[in-house]
Amino acid sequence: MSPPCFVANWKMNKGIAEAESYLYALEKHTAQQMDTPLSKIDFAETILAPPFTALSFVSEFLKQSSLRVDLAGQNVHYGGEGAFTGEIAPSMLREVGCRYVIIGHSERRQIFGETDPEIHEKLDAIVKCDLRPILCIGETLQERKDGKTWAVLERQLSEAFGEILQGHGTPENISEWIIAYEPVWAIGTGQTPTPGDVASVHRKVRECLCQGLKKGRPRILYGGSVNETNIETFMKEKQIDGVLVGGASLSADKLIKIIERGTAVKRA
Ligand code: PGA
Repeated sequence: MSPPCFVANWKMNKGIAEAESYLYALEKHTAQQMDTPLSKIDFAETILAPPFTALSFVSEFLKQSSLRVDLAGQNVHYGGEGAFTGEIAPSMLREVGCRYVIIGHSERRQIFGETDPEIHEKLDAIVKCDLRPILCIGETLQERKDGKTWAVLERQLSEAFGEILQGHGTPENISEWIIAYEPVWAIGTGQTPTPGDVASVHRKVRECLCQGLKKGRPRILYGGSVNETNIETFMKEKQIDGVLVGGASLSADKLIKIIERGTAVKRA
C-alpha cells in the first residue's frame, strides 16, 4: 500500500515570516513525537504548496530540518524560459526544490479562465522537467445537478492526460502522479459530498485510468472542505489515497491533526 498523501495548498496566503512560524510549529511537534507521520521515520507523504515567493525559503528550511515534507508549486507556465511576464517555468520550480506542481485547480479554471488544452500543455511541460503533476478535476454544482458529473470529470481527465490515456507511453513514474477530485461546490464552503459518493467517483476514475494506462496508476486524493474533524470519515474509504486541504491547512495545528488522524485510519 502506498503511504497516505496529504497536500496542503496555502493558496495566496503566508509570506516568509508566517511560513517560518508555521514550519517551526511542524518541527516542534515532530521533535516532541519522533514517530509522527511528519517525521523522516514514518510513512505518510506530506506535500506543502506555498505561494511562489515563499518556495525558496521553505525549501531551504526543509533541507535543514527533520521534517519529511515535499514541495509543490501551485501553478506553472507551459513555455520554457522566455517572454512570459509574470509566469514561472517548470525548471524554475525544480530549481527551488519542488517535486510536484498543482495544475487544473478550479480557482485557476474559473477565475483565470484556464482551459483543458492549457492544462494538458502544463502537464506535458512539467513531466518533461521531471516534476510530478497534482491534477485537480471537479464538477460545479450545476453540472452535478444536471447529472453531468462523470462526463465533466472524464473530459477533464482525458484532455489533461491526452495520449497517455489512449495507451501511448505510460510514464515510468505514473504511480507518483496525483489526481485530486475536488468538487467545485465543496471548495471552501464547508459542504462536502459523502465519503461514499467520493469513493464511487474515485472508483470510476480508477477504472478509466486502468483502461488507458499500461501499468501503474496515479494516487487519487479528495479535496474540498477537509478538516480535522471530518478527515477520518474520508480516509476510511479504501478508494481515497489522501486529501488535498486548503483552508484548514493554513493552521499548522490543524494540518498536524489531519495528517495524524488520517494516517491512523489507514494504518488500522
Ligand atoms: P478547502 O480548499 O480545503 O479550503 O475547501 C481545497 C482546495 O481548494 O484545494
